[in-house]
Amino acid sequence: MPRVLKIHMWPLWFLALFGQGKSFKANPLIGSHILNRLGLHMIRVLLARAVAHFRWLLLSSKMPKLLRKAYARDGFCIITNFLDEHELAAIRQEIRTPGGTARQMIQGNTATQRILLDEAFLQTRPSLSALIHSGSFVDLLEYGAAKACMPLMYIQRIRNGHLPGSVDPQKTMHSDTFHPTMKAWLFLEDVEQKHGPFTYVRGSHKLTKARFNWEYARSCAAGKLRDGYSEKGSFRASPDDLAEMNLPEPEGITAKAGTLVIANTNGFHGRGDAEDGEGRIEIWAYGRHNPFNPLPGFNLKFISNIELFFLKAYWRHKDKQAKKRGVKSSWHLIDTNEMLD
Ligand SMILES: [Fe+2]
Repeated sequence: MPRVLKIHMWPLWFLALFGQGKSFKANPLIGSHILNRLGLHMIRVLLARAVAHFRWLLLSSKMPKLLRKAYARDGFCIITNFLDEHELAAIRQEIRTPGGTARQMIQGNTATQRILLDEAFLQTRPSLSALIHSGSFVDLLEYGAAKACMPLMYIQRIRNGHLPGSVDPQKTMHSDTFHPTMKAWLFLEDVEQKHGPFTYVRGSHKLTKARFNWEYARSCAAGKLRDGYSEKGSFRASPDDLAEMNLPEPEGITAKAGTLVIANTNGFHGRGDAEDGEGRIEIWAYGRHNPFNPLPGFNLKFISNIELFFLKAYWRHKDKQAKKRGVKSSWHLIDTNEMLD
């Protein structure tokens, strides 16, 4: 049946316009060439930015002024020595204690492995728990996300060249979605160029005239793009695209262990090129919320627990679906030792 005849889906597609919905492929309204020619995508971009700036204003006490300035200017901020040597050593030791549930996603030749930092995992890991619950850490992340809600946090290991395959698609510079979002990396080991550092196009989070024009043109074509990601609302930007937007070269952010990097992933970013077999391990945080909700949010534990409950239920559902098809789910379970070795 042609998609436009799925009448029961139209209310959902319409409602998605007022939330995080971003797929030009799955939602015929978001992907409509005519509506985007008329400015639908750019209206969402502009409104979401205005609302994010309002929430940043309300949450400004959560991040020191110098860091806020860097975040607004560059699209990311770096806090060196966020963890000292003792804290690092304790956390490294705790994450090697048996327990936890590890999941893995394969993209190209790269494996992303994660353990969700939920209460069950933190219960027996006091140093990690103290960090995750510390006001100074959470405040910085909340400011980055422009939302006072507990971000999702994981232990994350990236393994480059982990298996034969095509190039990791996350190595292409891209914007995660049409509105400001936060991701953060607290590195547990030194990150050098060979490890494939987090890479960012400095200043690319700004909606300059050139970015506006590029984003508009891309939104009009996105419904028909087939690079695997742009059509799902995560626009890929080639070196030529970056030059067209007058943006600088991507910068690999090398860092000492204990460094915290917070980035607005509406700006162009990706994973840096790495030597096969190299990778990094970090505490990774993620905050993405309804971009049109002007309320700054409330960091309540029971809301965070509900979110984690549904996230785990979703993964289990995906596992079951994949098992029926005789394949592994995108985020499939792995032995925890496989991640921490
Ligand atoms: Fe990304």
